Amino acid sequence: MVETRLDSFADEYKKLLEMELRLLVEQLDAPPILKESMIYSLEAGGKRMRPLLLFATLDAFGIDPKNGLRAAAAIEMIHTYSLIHDDLPSMDNDDLRRGKPTNHIVYGDAVATLAGDALLTYSFEVIASTPSEFASPETKLKLIAEMAKAAGTEGMVGGQVADMEGEGKELSIEELEYIHIHKTGKLLGFSVQAGAILAEASQTLLDQLRGYAHHLGLAFQIQDDILDLVGNQQLIGKPVGSDTVNHKSTYPKVLTLEGARDALRNHILSAKEYLQLTGLNTGLLMELSDLVASRDR
Ligand code: IPE
Ligand code: IPE
Ligand code: MG
Ligand code: MG
Ligand code: MG
Repeated sequence: MVETRLDSFADEYKKLLEMELRLLVEQLDAPPILKESMIYSLEAGGKRMRPLLLFATLDAFGIDPKNGLRAAAAIEMIHTYSLIHDDLPSMDNDDLRRGKPTNHIVYGDAVATLAGDALLTYSFEVIASTPSEFASPETKLKLIAEMAKAAGTEGMVGGQVADMEGEGKELSIEELEYIHIHKTGKLLGFSVQAGAILAEASQTLLDQLRGYAHHLGLAFQIQDDILDLVGNQQLIGKPVGSDTVNHKSTYPKVLTLEGARDALRNHILSAKEYLQLTGLNTGLLMELSDLVASRDR
């Protein structure tokens, strides 16, 4: 296989991110079981897709991606919290995540819930305390406001509730799109947006990148639905068939597997069209789009 620029970029920045995450949690003064449970899920080895999107966006603007380490750690904390809660018995009731027993299987529902709460809350502190050489007070405020919107009631949390309410029902493609855009697209979109905010991008560029991330976020969750059906549990590190057991509406269920694959391809094409409009150095973001389309984990 040919080594791409993304391969070495991802290796380098995943390592930096993982060091940052560990340092940030280790320095907390808190009950050891809580820190252990937070670190257990943070270090279980996710793909780090959202941090990579943030780093690649900074790279597109010609800015040192290291400037985004704090924001990337914050996003990965929110994402990890969302997975811990998503797996709870009262939600998707899954026992495998990132190739390991889920947080509540190891630490129990109460500690798992609280570890999720702790990661969510800490993420805002992490951005607020970003050293001023990386982000001005105004930039930090923008990041905090946008991150709250993406993760909260009008974003991921709203999407997760709609996802639960849709269990056992025949949803239209529009209803399903609402769920995907909110439960997954908003936080993934914020990762790109955060890079652009740190780069102090113009409104036009912010809008074009929002268009890119909208289609990429949808494509990402469509592939997640496809992998839940035809993925390899060893690779995806979570149970195959969870959506079927939970009677979820998914893209393959509403559109057939072929229809879902077509929708995925179309969203990747649209995402790339938005990238082209920006005129930025988007090589890594293009590669990440291809990865979303072809990923097997
Ligand atoms: C899984 O996200 C949950 C979704 C929003 C689809 P990822 O596929 O990014 O999970 P990790 O972080 O790699 O484990
Ligand atoms: C989860 O969607 C989206 C989140 C906000 C965590 P899924 O329930 O499909 O995610 P997986 O398949 O369990 O990772
Ligand atoms: Mg779910
Ligand atoms: Mg789930
Ligand atoms: Mg899924």
